[in-house]
Amino acid sequence: MNIQIIKDFKKILKKKLLENRKIFSQLNTNCYRIYNRQLKDSINCTVDKYDKYIRITNYNDDITTEDKELIIESCFSNLYTPKDKIIWINKKKRVDKSQHEKLSEESIKLDVVEFGNTFEIDLTSRVDTGLFLDQVYARKYISEIAYDKDILNLFSYTGAFSVDAIINGAKSVTSVDLSKTYCNWQRRNYIKNNILESKNPIIEKDVIKYIDEAKKENKKFDIIICDVPSFSNSRKTETVFKVQRDYIELLDKLRYLLNENGIVYFSTNLENFIFNKNKLNGYKIENTTRKFLPDGFTKKSYPLHCYILTKDKFRKIYANNNTEKKYNKNIKKEYKKNSNHTYKKNRKEDFNKVKTNKKRQKVEIKPYSF
Ligand SMILES: C[S@@+](CC[C@H](N)C(=O)[O-])C[C@H]1O[C@@H](n2cnc3c(N)ncnc32)[C@H](O)[C@@H]1O
Repeated sequence: MNIQIIKDFKKILKKKLLENRKIFSQLNTNCYRIYNRQLKDSINCTVDKYDKYIRITNYNDDITTEDKELIIESCFSNLYTPKDKIIWINKKKRVDKSQHEKLSEESIKLDVVEFGNTFEIDLTSRVDTGLFLDQVYARKYISEIAYDKDILNLFSYTGAFSVDAIINGAKSVTSVDLSKTYCNWQRRNYIKNNILESKNPIIEKDVIKYIDEAKKENKKFDIIICDVPSFSNSRKTETVFKVQRDYIELLDKLRYLLNENGIVYFSTNLENFIFNKNKLNGYKIENTTRKFLPDGFTKKSYPLHCYILTKDKFRKIYANNNTEKKYNKNIKKEYKKNSNHTYKKNRKEDFNKVKTNKKRQKVEIKPYSF
């Protein structure tokens, strides 16, 4: 490997460690990303800090032993971490199947801290460690608005969104995930944080099935978290889920589970995901990708797309049947009732804001501020 590249890599490691250690220690968090494939033509890996450990995830299938040693050596000398605490993981390209595969029978488990809450991590068994570091600011956002809210966490994985929201005073959090392994992992995280499952159920079920049942039972939530897998075809589901194909149908169904002014946090890691806002009615939609991208990640080399959708009772929906047509008629009536001077003015102001924001977006990137 070119000596200049290694020098640049070391510089990034040192700089990002110092910057992120400061930012995240203020948030009482000891796990964060340090290197995010900035030099991916030569050094195609990510480097994450998990308390005293460094985890290198390599994306280059053809890496030489020599280059691997150079990367490990750079982490050793610049991140103040002994070699026995540096973990190397190879991430193989996925061929259209679930990404949560077992890598190794041996597991290195430890507890890390995020916002003062404790989470179990496994550094070696799978590519994913049990805590998605890219969602840290999204979890912070949800925690900040969680107080006294009824929350539904779909595809809940090991329950990090749920734990942070419950500790911040959510009235209830219902978590749904298909996998027994991850539901049990979430239970262990609940125990570590003194959370009672009786008030915050963890349901082992296909999300699509859960949504259909909840709609029939007229269940309502204030916040729905929906961090979807790009692709899911488990034996336990009746259908295959593909985010780009199914997101409209999924989000459309979630509207029925929301209280008035309720929100959905929707995110995906599908690289080329396109959100066609014109296909989805009944919501105000904000793209929060830049706002929620954590320090240490770069949009250029990291495929995260996230959105906040707010239920808007004055937005019409696509009407496929008589009930939905009636819904639209009622909206029209209510809209007319409310279209007094202030209401119209507010909508006009909203519209103008969107227009100016669109112009501004080209030059201004707003970071998420705490
Ligand atoms: C949180 S999502 C992953 C999101 C992450 N951004 C990514 O791309 O990997 C992963 C979780 O979804 C769960 N999952 C996948 N398909 C599911 C389904 N149809 N119903 C419920 N849970 C599902 C898996 O068991 C896993 O815990």
